[in-house]
Amino acid sequence: MNRIKVAPSILSADFGCLAKDLKRAQAAGADMFHIDVMDGHFVPNITIGPVVIKYIRKLTSLPLDVHLMIDNPQRFVGAFLDAGSDMLTVHIEAISSAGIRALKSKLKKRGVRLGISLNPSTPLEKIKGVLKFVDFVLIMSVNPGFSGQGFIPSVISKIKKLRSIFAGDIAVDGGINEKTAKEVLSAGANILAAGSYLFGSKDIRAAIERIRNAA
Ligand code: DX5
Ligand code: ZN
Repeated sequence: MNRIKVAPSILSADFGCLAKDLKRAQAAGADMFHIDVMDGHFVPNITIGPVVIKYIRKLTSLPLDVHLMIDNPQRFVGAFLDAGSDMLTVHIEAISSAGIRALKSKLKKRGVRLGISLNPSTPLEKIKGVLKFVDFVLIMSVNPGFSGQGFIPSVISKIKKLRSIFAGDIAVDGGINEKTAKEVLSAGANILAAGSYLFGSKDIRAAIERIRNAA
């Protein structure tokens, strides 16, 4: 069984005092930080790039799980590796199978784990051919772009199907709270990326524990 891990998504943190929020989440038992990179093309929002991640790297000892919601991810991978990413996720809607294979060998040399993500409307079939090249899958349970959206329930069957053919880590991202965490964990996911539910809670430690133990 894959260990259940909680990845606070810093998109919902206070960027005016990011260092404080990162320390608070780390002390509360976070397993890694989920960092959302958006380019205004692949998704209708713009967030942060390698220059910010480089400083986040200095603020925490936890793994940095960098979720690239960008077109042409290969172009920027070197910069995200140099910035200190430990896990790098690209979207199947933005890269070819050959691109994934090339990325895997590049990341392997740096000891960085590769993830493949798919949007709620993208069928599982699209990633089947690349599963052997990736270390984990990130299932989007909202349309990428913004935190605080509602969980899309149809992804539950996608998680179940994926678990039946894939032994690696399955992460879920979007609309995770106590109730949806229970559903995705029961379906076979084991990494919970959560933004607004964790950073919006009064007691982040209790919130992390609630989703970790939701199943
Ligand atoms: C959405 C991002 C998510 C987002 C999740 O595009 O990829 O990581 O921060 O936020 P919540 O947990 O609030 O849905
Ligand atoms: Zn994300």
